[in-house]
Amino acid sequence: MGICWPKPAKCAHVSSTNLSGDSKIHSKIKPESISSTKKSSHQNSNKQFVADKSYARVSSNLKVDTSVSSNLKSFSFSDLKNASKNFRSEIGEGGFGWVFKGWIDENTFAPTKPGTGIVVAIKKLKEESFQGHREWLAEVNYLGQLHHENLVKLIGYCAESENRLLVYEFMPKGSLENHLFRKGVQPISWATRMHIARGVARGLSYLHSLNANVIYRDLKASNILLDSDYNAKLSDFGLARDGPTGDNTHVSTRVIGTQGYAAPEYVATGRLTPKSDVYSFGVVLLELLSGRRVMDDEVAGFSEDTLVDWAKPFLSDNRKMLRIMDTRLGGQYSKKGAQAAAALALQCLHSDPKNRPSMADVQVSLERLHATMDTPRTPPQQSREKLDFHRIKHTNGPRKARVPTANSR
Ligand SMILES: Nc1ncnc2c1ncn2[C@@H]1O[C@H](COP(=O)(O)OP(=O)(O)OP(=O)(O)O)[C@@H](O)[C@H]1O
Ligand SMILES: [Mg+2]
Repeated sequence: MGICWPKPAKCAHVSSTNLSGDSKIHSKIKPESISSTKKSSHQNSNKQFVADKSYARVSSNLKVDTSVSSNLKSFSFSDLKNASKNFRSEIGEGGFGWVFKGWIDENTFAPTKPGTGIVVAIKKLKEESFQGHREWLAEVNYLGQLHHENLVKLIGYCAESENRLLVYEFMPKGSLENHLFRKGVQPISWATRMHIARGVARGLSYLHSLNANVIYRDLKASNILLDSDYNAKLSDFGLARDGPTGDNTHVSTRVIGTQGYAAPEYVATGRLTPKSDVYSFGVVLLELLSGRRVMDDEVAGFSEDTLVDWAKPFLSDNRKMLRIMDTRLGGQYSKKGAQAAAALALQCLHSDPKNRPSMADVQVSLERLHATMDTPRTPPQQSREKLDFHRIKHTNGPRKARVPTANSR
């Protein structure tokens, strides 16, 4: 899933997108060693059941949870080969493997001809590996149990000999990453960006509200998929895990995630809390506002800072913050809405996790913002903003991160 990012005491394993946007740098991870401070996660029986048991199964048996397999279709490899026309039309590539378009019958899930039945996205693990299997299994076990309008729907899986595949609902608008950063793509409007932010906040808020306090751990633009109405859905639950429950404040685990998006205290200590997801959300919000990648080596002159390092000083100043806004918005956004979103991003990016809001609070803030002030309008100083942006871009902009080592995956 990414770059290995060694820290003195712990192996910090972090995945990263390659900034060209075409290929990716990935590395394998060894089995996650867990020293959890977690007690029983069934203390509050009023809350929804989540994947505590499945996590145990992920950790030990490495088998699909039986309660999950009944919710999902178990496909044969030849079914998926036929459904995808021998894996002909590739729609994406990530650390896990390739994603192909396929067609299946809506009721029987049998492969159908292209253009008939329903379209699905078929993810195929690149090679057999222990960690690849672990992530595949975590995805099956979590998404087999969790259902929410802001989580991508997993239809089924295939585990035949060495083959590991996943079958999802097809998301026609692809990933947020493509809309924000791919060259030549029509920029998405302010209203759409905020709609996406609300969807992501709802998805994370749902996970954190569950009995097992599920931490998503890999929030980034490429894992936010969009349906035909730009509704955001979280995909990729390979790194998700149960969070702290009861009196526990965190779970301790080796560091896995994506460089730039992973919360600094988690990277430094391996202590994982739901507030780690809040930090990653702050990064995504900043990407939505600025239209820039958290790690960007494409802009000349940048050498080490991230978008967060660059943008933070602007976020707390209502006037200066406008300089970070994406010029592709053409000034078509509510100034007050943008300022409020920037202030929220700043809170999410607080270096002390205790001072970050909860995802439930973030969700409420974004809903409130939507209800009150994110109607687009053109600020009079539009041309001035553009001027300032270009000046900043070449002097203080985000710089390429220091990455000590990189293993390819
Ligand atoms: N259900 C889906 N519907 C439509 N497109 C999808 C779907 N799932 C994935 N994709 C496309 O495939 C691309 C690759 O997805 P994948 O999750 O394998 O990698 P990634 O998110 O880019 O990187 P990483 O492996 O680090 O998570 C996505 O960015 C998206 O464009
Ligand atoms: Mg992904």
